[in-house]
Amino acid sequence: MSNYLKYADSLEVAQMDEDALSHQIAESMARVGHAVCSRHGHAMRNAHARSHGILKGELVIDGPLPTHLAQGLFSQPGRYPVVIRLSSSPGETGPDSQPAARGFAIKVLGVAGNKVLPDDSGHTQDFLLVNSPSIAFGDVRSYQCMQDFLERAELDPDGMAGAAAKLKRTPDPKLESMLTEVQHANSNHILGETFYSMAAVRFGEYVAKISVAPASNEVRALTGTPVDTLHRPSAFRDLVVDFFRQHGAEYDLRAQLCTDLAHMPIEDAAVVWDEKSSPQQVIARIVIPRQEAYSPARQAYGDEVLSFSPWHAIEAHRPLGSIMRIRRTVYEQSSLFRHTTNGEPRREPEDISELPD
Ligand code: HEM
Repeated sequence: MSNYLKYADSLEVAQMDEDALSHQIAESMARVGHAVCSRHGHAMRNAHARSHGILKGELVIDGPLPTHLAQGLFSQPGRYPVVIRLSSSPGETGPDSQPAARGFAIKVLGVAGNKVLPDDSGHTQDFLLVNSPSIAFGDVRSYQCMQDFLERAELDPDGMAGAAAKLKRTPDPKLESMLTEVQHANSNHILGETFYSMAAVRFGEYVAKISVAPASNEVRALTGTPVDTLHRPSAFRDLVVDFFRQHGAEYDLRAQLCTDLAHMPIEDAAVVWDEKSSPQQVIARIVIPRQEAYSPARQAYGDEVLSFSPWHAIEAHRPLGSIMRIRRTVYEQSSLFRHTTNGEPRREPEDISELPD
């Protein structure tokens, strides 16, 4: 295929006032993170604080792939150990009935290649995915508006409900539509969902968005199955644990290559890339065996020791675009704060045996 957009550094274009807006977002997230920490007496992730399962698996690159897909990590057939953390999006642990997006964060171990960050000595490649193809606040300017609302909710005695009620008095249509999207997030079985990077990454010579879709029968059967979260505060954890006591699972890892920057922008992650113009193409399988998915030791390791970031990446999978650039600062800040506050050393796993059973 010849119409895939070629990667070049010049594809990224900073937004007006991006540095100032990024600074405001980071400062606001830090203030909210401190407030959550004093409430719980424990520092947690500024986003995706609540986990539902920590899984051990394997990334299998059957190969050889066609040239346009044989890029970066996927350039050679191979098998790599992976750790997967399943989560919900709020930056404070709460019951599963809270409307939230679900996360599927993959850490690939034993990866060779130049890392994007100069001080990253780990051999890991992370892919952070959420169960939506786009992020409503898809650039730094709109994200700042959302973060400002989240901080107002933190300070409001009535929390989100109070901040949303005040918003009705001074309407902001864009923010309201973003909130509606969050409030209507589904509560379907997490293992049947499809998860997306929402923002773009370099894909070797090209540019792509990455996604994961259920492939084996047992997880495909769960797609669209609603979960009663009102009467079961930890429904997702219970379902994940029950599932992996009985079955293994397989997911397809896919790349959607950019063919046209005008309709598939890098700088606005709110735009869904049309699958008719460029389909999802399978690049690897994620194979997860039967296991104990959430033992106390697993949970402690996944929540307290591990950090996932799109910037834990080799140069061939460099994160791209406005929303990715702000993530460079805030993931480091969030991880540094919680590890330092909780007295946990920060280190990237070198071997899968570091993940407790
Ligand atoms: C492309 C859109 C995004 C996706 C797909 C995404 C996905 C995720 C996922 C799956 C996690 C959980 C990782 C884990 O299990 O440890 C996470 C954590 C986090 N996200 Fe995002 N996210 C996105 C955008 C953002 C943005 C725009 C911000 C803030 C400006 C942000 C801030 C954070 C923070 C602070 C954490 C916790 C980091 C830590 O303490 O280790 N994310 N994200």
